[in-house]
Amino acid sequence: MTDFDTVDYFTDQALVPNPHPYYDHLRSKCPVTGLPHHGVVAVTGYEETAEAMRNGDALSSVIAVGGPFPPLPFEVEGDDLGALIAEHRHKMPMYEHMVTMDPPDHTAARSLLNRLLTPARLKENEEFMWRLADAQLDEFVADGACDFLAAYAKPFSLLVVADVLGVPEEDHQQFRVVLGAERPGARVGALDDDIVSSNPLEFLDEKFSAYISDRRANPRDDVLTQLALAKYPDGSTPEVIDVVRSATFLFAAGQETTAKLLTSALRFLCDTPGLQEELRADRSKIPVFIEETLRMEAPVKSLFRLAKQTTQLGETEVPIGTTLMLCPGAANRDPRRFEDPHDFRLDRPNSREHMAFGRGVHTCPGGPLARVEGRVSMERILDRMLDIRIDENEHGPLEARRYDYEPTYILRGLQKLQLEFTPKS
Ligand code: HEM
Repeated sequence: MTDFDTVDYFTDQALVPNPHPYYDHLRSKCPVTGLPHHGVVAVTGYEETAEAMRNGDALSSVIAVGGPFPPLPFEVEGDDLGALIAEHRHKMPMYEHMVTMDPPDHTAARSLLNRLLTPARLKENEEFMWRLADAQLDEFVADGACDFLAAYAKPFSLLVVADVLGVPEEDHQQFRVVLGAERPGARVGALDDDIVSSNPLEFLDEKFSAYISDRRANPRDDVLTQLALAKYPDGSTPEVIDVVRSATFLFAAGQETTAKLLTSALRFLCDTPGLQEELRADRSKIPVFIEETLRMEAPVKSLFRLAKQTTQLGETEVPIGTTLMLCPGAANRDPRRFEDPHDFRLDRPNSREHMAFGRGVHTCPGGPLARVEGRVSMERILDRMLDIRIDENEHGPLEARRYDYEPTYILRGLQKLQLEFTPKS
C-alpha cells in the first residue's frame, strides 16, 4: 500500500498506472500543497491551476519542462528573480524553445508560430488529414487487429505536424523512421536520464535549417517559404535557427501528446459500455467525446513554474524560488468544478472547460489542430473498423483490465493498446 504522505511522485512507479487517488489526496490536504521531495509544491485544484498558468508576471516558465531537475543554477536571493533567471537561462533544459521562455522573448517566438498556424493553413492541413487517416488505416485494417498506438496514433500525429510545417511528402517516410523511436528521458526513477542531452530534436534542427536556408535563397510557393520569410512583429528578420526552433518544437509538443489523446480515446470507446453505439448513431457527438477524453486523461501530466516573486495562489502564499508543479489531469478532476469527476460522461455540460491545453500566454497553440486530428480520426475509424474491442488476451477482461502507462511524470499515455475489430469491406 503506497503511503501518499511520503511517496516520491518523481521516482515511485506505484503512481504511474493511476495517479488520480494521489492527486485527490493532495487536493484534499490543500489544492496548493508542498511535496516531501525535491522542494516541489503541487497544484491540484482547478482554479489554482488556472490562476498559476495566467500569472506569468510572478511565475516564470523557465523550468516548464524540467521542473526540479536539474536544480537551479543560482542561489535564490532578493525579492525578484527576473535578473538571475535572465543571466542563467541558457543553462536550463529546453531554454531555446518557446515553452520555457517568458515575455518579451516568448511573445516574439510565438508570433512566428501564429503566422504559420493560420486558418487557411489549418484548412489545408485538415484536407491532408482525411487522406492520411485513410492511408494509415489501409496499412492494417484488413488484419482485424492492431496495436493502435504504433499502427495509427504515432505515425498519424507525426505526419500531421510534418504537413503543417510543409515538409515535402517525399520526406515523410524519413521523418517517420527517424522520429518513430520512443522519446528518451523523462522516465520516473531515471532522473539522471537527462531529457535534454538526449535531444531528439537534433535531426529536426538539421533538416529544418536546410529547408529554411534553401527557401530564403530560393523562395517558392510553399509553406516552408512562408515560414522562412516570416518576420517578427517589429519587422526584423529572425535568425534561421530561431525559425527552425519554432518549427521543430512542434514535433516535440504536438506528436506524442496527440498520439496519447487518440489512444486514450480508443480505450474509452471500447471500455465505456454503449459509447461506441452512441457515437456510431450520432457522429455529432464526436467533438464532445474528444473533450471528455482530454478531461479524463490529460496527456500532459505535469508542467512547472518557478516563483520569481513571493506570490499568492488561492489561499496559499508561495515563497520566491518555489518550484510549482501544475497537473492538468488533477485540475480536470477537481470535484469543485466537475461533478463526479472520475466518471466518463458524454453528456457532461462542461467537459470543454478542461485544462489539458493549459491557459494564459503559453496556452497550447496546437489545441485546434489536435481537436481536428481527434475528430477526423474517429470519423474514419468508425467508418472502417466495426465492433472495435480491446484484445482481452493482452489487456484482460473488462472488469480487470491491465494497461501499461508510460513511466514518466511529464506525460500520461498508454504504452500499447491492442485492439480487435471487424474490417468494413
Ligand atoms: C492533445 C494534444 C496536446 C496537448 C494535450 C497539449 C498540451 C499542451 C500544454 C498543456 C501546453 C502548455 C505548456 C505550459 O503552459 O507550460 C502546450 C504548449 C504547447 N503546445 Fe501543445 N498540446 C497538444 C498538441 C499540440 C500540437 C498538435 C501542437 C502543434 C502542432 C502543439 C504545440 C505546442 C506548443 C508550440 C506549445 C508551447 C506554447 C508556448 O509556450 O507558448 N501542441 N501544449
